[in-house]
Amino acid sequence: MLIKSFVSSFALLQLGAARVQFLGIGIAGGDFGCEIDGSCPTGSTQLPLRSFNLGGGDGEGQMKHFSQDDGMNLFRLPISWQSLVNNQLGARLDASNLAKYDKLVQACLATGAHCMIDIHNFARWNGGIIGQGGPTDEQFVSLWTQLATKYAGSANIVFELMNEPHDLDVPTWAATCQKVITAIRSAGALKQMILLPGTNFDSAAHLVGSGSAQALMALTNPDGTTDNLLLDVHKYLDEDNSGTHAACVTNNTDAFGEVAAFLRQAGRKAIVSETGAAPAGSACMERFCEQNAFINANSDVFVGLVAWAAGSFDTSYILGLTPSQKNGKYVDNALATKCVVGTWLESSEFAPPAVSSASARASSSSAGGSGSSSAVATSPTTTQSTSVEVEGGVSTSESTVIEASTPTPAPTLTTTALVVSSGLPLPATVSETLAGLDAPNTVTGTIQTTATRNLVPGASATKSTVTSGGLSRAVSCRGGLVWFSAVVGFVATAGLF
Ligand SMILES: *[C@@H]1O[C@H](CO)[C@@H](O)[C@H](O)[C@H]1NC(C)=O
Repeated sequence: MLIKSFVSSFALLQLGAARVQFLGIGIAGGDFGCEIDGSCPTGSTQLPLRSFNLGGGDGEGQMKHFSQDDGMNLFRLPISWQSLVNNQLGARLDASNLAKYDKLVQACLATGAHCMIDIHNFARWNGGIIGQGGPTDEQFVSLWTQLATKYAGSANIVFELMNEPHDLDVPTWAATCQKVITAIRSAGALKQMILLPGTNFDSAAHLVGSGSAQALMALTNPDGTTDNLLLDVHKYLDEDNSGTHAACVTNNTDAFGEVAAFLRQAGRKAIVSETGAAPAGSACMERFCEQNAFINANSDVFVGLVAWAAGSFDTSYILGLTPSQKNGKYVDNALATKCVVGTWLESSEFAPPAVSSASARASSSSAGGSGSSSAVATSPTTTQSTSVEVEGGVSTSESTVIEASTPTPAPTLTTTALVVSSGLPLPATVSETLAGLDAPNTVTGTIQTTATRNLVPGASATKSTVTSGGLSRAVSCRGGLVWFSAVVGFVATAGLF
């Protein structure tokens, strides 16, 4: 057998941390019963607090779990307008109902997270559009003035003016929002983030085209600044952006890319306060992860990502991210683990170039052959393949296919036995453990260079390799973002791995 030695190089992409500052999940229930015409029967409200004994979910326990175990730091707390004023449009906040909602808010604040007040009324009250034939601007301003007064001293409160406006006149809606911004600041809530939602259900696919983004980003604080005024963005992955179908048909990178470009040019930021996918839906694990990796990758303009939903939804809800109880502890489902938490944690380690690449070359020196390998990591994807061909006295080929279905949190690709042999064909053993991917692999050869990076637990992968004679190997693993790219060249007989 001819001996080849390879000079290898590796490229490791590490471009700095980049992930959304705020990650969280919607703690639903206060919105239950709300229809898109803004009718929200208060009898349907199910605030997610066990202590009320009303059949609602354990939002308090969930938020503790999400913050302590997953590091989440933003929870969205939907509530209906009708509930807050006990069906009396324009009235004072109802003391009893407000106290209940406040209990949820305080449970959220107690975790240290930011807590988003979401008025879940689709810019309407019982069929009428705010400021456009339905409730007056003053009635809506009254609602927000009272809420802002109550929470003026809580820096971690986020005011989401309205959930998913639709079918309304955008400039008129923007003018309504301006009045509310002014009222909130005037009530003493000077610094809190305010989220401004556009029409078409706040869809990322329409915010720019509908003129919503432009109209809303023109609004200002009373002092003329735009500090802490953020665009509110929603988007689902199903066929009609309704979040009611299991199948994920898009990863939304076009839509979020358009919003990101707009924001970048405008010098502004947004929070994606609602997006979700079905844990059991076809292609959801892939596309939801891709989407969320993309949002994290654009964290210069997207400062937050809130997935829908837990709270009073039970675990069987089509978009359910409600954790289940195991041995007295909450455990996330795979979609939450991989696509919500996983993409976020990975993004903290590696930067997220929209397109990144790594390449590695191996060349043969002693047998007149030539070899090459390349590993190219493109934009977030879950499939990697590497092929190596070495021509010369001996044919060597290797193809590696790694399909890491989705990224998840902790480092689990551990390459041990880093051996540098200056090109000499010294035997060495590399034990490479691809936890969560497949069984440990052993390769015998002389390792000239190698590198380690993180993979993630729970990722599923298949890997197939064919080797003969000398072998050069490039590894590039990716699942949403680049974790690892290295090339290993070695000589002598290689075991299969
Ligand atoms: C989103 O899907 C498109 C089309 O399948 C694909 O080209 C693109 O790479 C995906 N984006 C990400 C971030 O994975």
